[in-house]
Amino acid sequence: MREVISHSPSDTHGLAAEILATLPSNAVLALYGDLGSGKTCFVQGLAETMGITEPVTSPTFTLVNEYRGRTPLTHVDLYRLSHPDEALAMGFEELVESEGVTAIEWAERAEGLLPAHTLRLRFRTPEDGRTRVITIEGE
Ligand SMILES: Nc1ncnc2c1ncn2[C@@H]1O[C@H](COP(=O)(O)OP(=O)(O)O)[C@@H](O)[C@H]1O
Ligand SMILES: [Mg+2]
Repeated sequence: MREVISHSPSDTHGLAAEILATLPSNAVLALYGDLGSGKTCFVQGLAETMGITEPVTSPTFTLVNEYRGRTPLTHVDLYRLSHPDEALAMGFEELVESEGVTAIEWAERAEGLLPAHTLRLRFRTPEDGRTRVITIEGE
């Protein structure tokens, strides 16, 4: 387990670039943490590094956004999921098997469906509110 202190959104983007460089071509990243803790910011860093020019926002209503970069990026946000069965219905198991990198916000809502090779990142906002603490498990 590794803990990183991010002092800015660009620090979080830098961490995303660093982690991306170490990933296999089929990777699953599970992102945990409260609203505003920087999960989407991290995914934006992945997208930027992959050469994706489309803006990456939280796929609030769609649950899934797919982007074509140098490698495909699948961005999933399970915030609105009320039951893991809904993840099955949306084809979650196929999504995590898909080519490229799959990044899942609120991954705890489908915890039992995550594959064994999932890399877990936990985002926290300390009291000061200006930094983010990011722990990485499974590297
Ligand atoms: N070190 C940091 N890393 C990431 N985001 C930060 C940081 N410091 C401040 N922020 C701000 O916090 C917010 C994080 O939002 P977002 O990435 O959408 O969070 P989440 O997806 O976890 O709800 C953004 O407004 C971003 O500018
Ligand atoms: Mg988000």
